[in-house]
Amino acid sequence: PVSGKLAGVKVLLTAGPTREALDPVRYLTNQSSGKMGYALAHAAARMGAQVTLVSGPVALSVPVGVNCIEVESCQQMHEAVMTEVENADIFIGCAAVADYRPEQNEPQKIKKSKDKLTLTFIKNPDILAEVAALPKRPFTVGFAAETQDVAHYARQKLEKKRLDMIAANDVSASDRGFNTNLNALTVLWQNGEAELPCTDKSTLAQALLDLIAQHYKNNQNH
Ligand code: PMT
Repeated sequence: PVSGKLAGVKVLLTAGPTREALDPVRYLTNQSSGKMGYALAHAAARMGAQVTLVSGPVALSVPVGVNCIEVESCQQMHEAVMTEVENADIFIGCAAVADYRPEQNEPQKIKKSKDKLTLTFIKNPDILAEVAALPKRPFTVGFAAETQDVAHYARQKLEKKRLDMIAANDVSASDRGFNTNLNALTVLWQNGEAELPCTDKSTLAQALLDLIAQHYKNNQNH
C-alpha cells in the first residue's frame, strides 16, 4: 500500500451504470463508464483497505487486490450490496443507479407493430438510502450528480438520507463527470465542506479517500 491510512478497513463500493431490461435484447442505461468508482476502489486498496466492488457493466479491468461482484440491474446491485454490507466499515455509492425500471421485462422481444409505444416504469430500491437506514450501518458516503445548484441539492440529499458524507459533481459540463477522465467534487458533511478541484479521477479518488479516512477515524473516536 502507498499509505496505510485504511489498513484493515473494509470498504464496499458501487460503480458503473445499471441496465434495466425491457426484453431479452433491449435495456435502458446511462452514461456512467465506471471510471470514478474503479479509481476509488484502486485508491482504497492502495491505502490498505479490503475492498469489495459491486459493479454494473463497464469496460474496465478490476484493480489488483479488489474483490469484484458483477451485476447488471439495480435489483441485482441492491441484493449484492445488502449481502455484503454486514461486513463493511465504509460504504461508498458511486454507481449511477437507475431510479426506475420498466414495469414489464417482456419474456419475448417486443414486436414492431403500433405507431406509438408507451412504457410504464416503476421505482427501483434506493440502495444508498437503505444502507444509511440500517441500525448498524457503515460510514456511508453518497454521490450526487447534479446539473444545477450542486451544493444546495447535495446538502438536501445528505440530510434527507442521513449520510455521513456526500460527494457532489456537476454533470452539466461535458469535460468532466460522466464518461470522461476528469472530475471535480464538492464534498459535504454535517458541519463542513471541501472543494476538490477538477483533476484526473485517480488523483481525485485519492483526495476523496483521504477526507473519508479522516472523518471515519474521527467517528470511531466518538
Ligand atoms: O462512471 P463515470 O463515467 O466515471 O462517472 C462518474 C459519475 C458521474 C457516475 C459519479 O461520479 C456519480 O456522480 N455517481 C452517482 C450518480 C448518480 O446516480 O447520482 P444521483 O444523484 O442520481 O444519486 C444519488 C446517490 O444515490 C448516488 O450515490 C447513487 O449511487 C445512489 N442511488 C441512486 C438511486 C438508487 N436507486 N440507488 C442508489 O443507491
